Amino acid sequence: MRSPIERYLRDLHQELTGLTDGVPFQNIPGMADADPGDFAICLATVDGHVYEVGDSRTEFTIQSISKPFTYGLALEDHGLDAVDRKVDVEPSGDAFNEISLARDTGRPANAMINAGAIAAASLIKGSGGRDGFGRILDIHSRFAGRSLDVSERVFASESATGYRNRALAHLLRSFDVIEDDPERAVENYFRQCSILVNARDLALMGATLANGGRQPLTGEQVVDLETVQRMLSVMLTCGMYDDAGAWTSAVGLPAKSGVGGGLMAVLPGQLGISVYSPALDRHGSSVRGIAAARRLSAEMGLHFVKAARIGRSAIRAHYPITDAPSGVRRGQEAADLLTEQGHRAQLVELHGDLLFAGAESVVRHVSSLPDEVEIVLLDVRKVDEVNDVALNLMEELRRTFEVDGRRMAVIDDAGRISEVLCAGRTPLFPGSTEAIEWAEERLLRRHGRPGLVPRTVALPDFAALVPLSAEQIAALEERMEDREYDDGDLIRRSGQKFGGIYFIVSGRVATSTVRDGHRVRYTTLGPGMTFGEIALGGGAPVRVRAEEKVRVRLLSADAIERLERDEPELALALWKAVAVDAYTRVEQNLQEVAVRDRD
Ligand code: DON
Repeated sequence: MRSPIERYLRDLHQELTGLTDGVPFQNIPGMADADPGDFAICLATVDGHVYEVGDSRTEFTIQSISKPFTYGLALEDHGLDAVDRKVDVEPSGDAFNEISLARDTGRPANAMINAGAIAAASLIKGSGGRDGFGRILDIHSRFAGRSLDVSERVFASESATGYRNRALAHLLRSFDVIEDDPERAVENYFRQCSILVNARDLALMGATLANGGRQPLTGEQVVDLETVQRMLSVMLTCGMYDDAGAWTSAVGLPAKSGVGGGLMAVLPGQLGISVYSPALDRHGSSVRGIAAARRLSAEMGLHFVKAARIGRSAIRAHYPITDAPSGVRRGQEAADLLTEQGHRAQLVELHGDLLFAGAESVVRHVSSLPDEVEIVLLDVRKVDEVNDVALNLMEELRRTFEVDGRRMAVIDDAGRISEVLCAGRTPLFPGSTEAIEWAEERLLRRHGRPGLVPRTVALPDFAALVPLSAEQIAALEERMEDREYDDGDLIRRSGQKFGGIYFIVSGRVATSTVRDGHRVRYTTLGPGMTFGEIALGGGAPVRVRAEEKVRVRLLSADAIERLERDEPELALALWKAVAVDAYTRVEQNLQEVAVRDRD
């Protein structure tokens, strides 16, 4: 089936074929014979899908569209400040070949006009066995995702006739903006303008910029995000020269045109767009290119003002834990106390993207909770995107919230938020039931009389042992040994052979693993819970560590082996009970996931 986007692009292409204004570039003799009938439109997504219509594989010279890429390489080589000393970032409002140099310093207005581009080319030195131009060609190829060549014919033609550019290079040398041979700088500039690309290449080069500098097909991070930010900023303000204002208000995308007939535009985060059609307007931009870009922007909503998402609150729901009690059976006194004090613990469910606006909504909500709210359980399982700014804000929120004895806990499957928020002692739970149970106990301890919450759980009260009779539990207990661990002690790690089943009598332990080189927390386990019964982590390096003073009763591997020999029926009953308990826990989590997915 042909996608509606392909159909739309074909219709647009066909309609604009009727536009026959303008002529190919005449100032470089080798380019004057370009076929004004050639016409291609391409869109490349940040995940590497390319829509191509028309002559999308016809090669032409990149010309001025090379300028942001060489500028990007100069920025990577020397850093922003050093490059800024040589080339400014102000729109000149002049034509591309204007002598827009600062009166006193000779600094070109920006790197998109010829003067600035020649200065940028002069900054690229050879290294790693490549000469300066070899490196310029290489960065273009890496943006395109394939190895590009140079049109020697167009290069020779421009080199033979480019008197004005040569004069600009010498003028820049006289101001010491170019510090070495101006001839080398201008020849490299002519060569970069003669790099052969097709419309598909340009769309992918744009998509690489849209994708924060990572080429969508090769996966290579070609330049870093700071460089992309600068490249796109200068393209937006200066990329279309003396047409930049009209372009930005009508199309609203960072872009660059070239007198070869190419045009490349970028919608950050989404798309690279290219058009190829050699007939040019008076600014040196493709007539059909401008027309196609205007139509695409208007009809597909690509102008940066329209493409921006309105920041929405990231808070999906918030309620006191009394609205969703853990279900743990407690005595009447404890139940009454939770009814009375439960509003002090709030569950806040987040969803959607956590960029600045989303994080701001969370920070505002949590900061304005009354002082009597002592616990916030942050359920982040439905959060999609999260950026560094949001992570920093959330971490600062957690720190400020926890300063005066209030506590936060996080509910997460696996993700960057819990990696950051739970790097210290902030507990992480896989589901809301576990988190609410933890919050209930904390409230009971703080507001109930001493001893209301048993800090220790007796063996018959373990969920895992519920199916067993009192006699069976007593028989098991005889085979168990007591173990104590201090805060921070490593209790188990994957790779060790099966060590038995650990019944946590008091204290808390945390399980953690290593992801992308960082240790991240899995979950927090407390009294009444067990671990060790299932092989840890299935390959991931898991650790179990005491979070405070911990007492466990251990049914060791040896004890289990003896039990299987001496009392096989009891052993079978134990394994059944343990399996049912593990299954119930998994099932509970799955149900929560299903409810979340349904919502
Ligand atoms: O330097 C020149 O004049 C050409 N090699 C490139 C000019 C250019 O592409 C202007 N952009 N539209």
